[in-house]
Amino acid sequence: MKPLNHTVSEFKESIFTTMTKMALENSAINLSQGFPDFDGPKWVGDLAAKAMADGKNQYAPSLGILPLRTAIANNYKRFYNLDYDPISEIVVTNGATEAIFCAAMALINPGDEVVVFEPFYDSYYASLKMAGAKVIPVTLFAPEFTYKMSDLKAAITVKTKMVIVNNPHNPTGKIFSPAEIKEISELAEKFDFYILSDEVYEFLTFDQAHNPTACFENLRKRTITISSTGKTFGLTGWKVGWACGPSEIIKAIHNVHQFTTFCVAHPLQVAMAEALANMDEYLVDFKRQYRAKRDLLVNGLKEVGFNVIKPAGTYFTMAILKDGESDIEFCQKLIREKKVAVIPTSAFYIKSDEGTRMVRFCFAKKDETLNAALTNLKSKEPSQ
Ligand SMILES: Cc1ncc(COP(=O)(O)O)c(C=O)c1O
Repeated sequence: MKPLNHTVSEFKESIFTTMTKMALENSAINLSQGFPDFDGPKWVGDLAAKAMADGKNQYAPSLGILPLRTAIANNYKRFYNLDYDPISEIVVTNGATEAIFCAAMALINPGDEVVVFEPFYDSYYASLKMAGAKVIPVTLFAPEFTYKMSDLKAAITVKTKMVIVNNPHNPTGKIFSPAEIKEISELAEKFDFYILSDEVYEFLTFDQAHNPTACFENLRKRTITISSTGKTFGLTGWKVGWACGPSEIIKAIHNVHQFTTFCVAHPLQVAMAEALANMDEYLVDFKRQYRAKRDLLVNGLKEVGFNVIKPAGTYFTMAILKDGESDIEFCQKLIREKKVAVIPTSAFYIKSDEGTRMVRFCFAKKDETLNAALTNLKSKEPSQ
């Protein structure tokens, strides 16, 4: 047989799939994958059930139903004083993941360079590679997860087409400081690149309000803001996301979207339009709940003796291993001996070996799951 596409053939099984398989084989508590082990809010589920009963079951408009685009635009205005025109500056996608893929396909020509901060969410690399990009990593260094300005300057050249910023940042829990975004913005002006800003954890900030990249001076015109409802509503399986930006860019992203998936599940869009318009009360409880989970896990891990970094955002926390320990072996041992599954972070890096000395815990889990994991980590002979 003739060879398959050489780019795609090189992709490996995602680390999340590998760790989840190992967790199941070992009956371990799974703190590896980044989604809740509890259901999303019933009132939002009821809205989708109603939309289905009301016959919203055929293809939706490819850009997304207008009430949803309007709700998204209204929230950007309300929360961040950011103006997006729901008619021409927003496209609804199958999760942020599809928005990232479509943005890569829409903006990148083979050979274009794209700078990503590592560790990074794995779909960036795959999408960029499929678009033919050359991926240039800039490492964020623990414990603050800051980059070296000299590294960033060296990475950015006239060939740089795009820089990807993930803020709040998975897996580190970092929130980029205004000074860092300003530095990136100055380079963007000088070298004229786009910024893809993945903000799926926008409502998971614990000590400060989220500040979208597009709100910074001069950045709206070159920023593609991507977000989704998966994390915010704990409904990651719904895959309702979007990209916002200047109309010319959104038109190009939509050109890709219409020939990949065409549209997003219609009843889920109806439900999300309503949910996004009525989320204020929900958000208060959502943030309180996740802050408590963060504190429960971070304090618990500290008690067990982990060198854990308290995250400013997201639902992940990173722990730095002891000298001589390496992430993959550590995770395998933790699953076998303590029956707890976490993520080895070397999978999130392509240049630096920083990841070999860290592991990622997810705290989007029921308190009983977090407590059971902590009990296992403390005990010599875990029960599960
Ligand atoms: C940084 C980041 N971006 C995007 C996504 C994917 O979002 P969605 O489920 O909406 O496709 C995730 C999911 O884990 C993520 O962590």
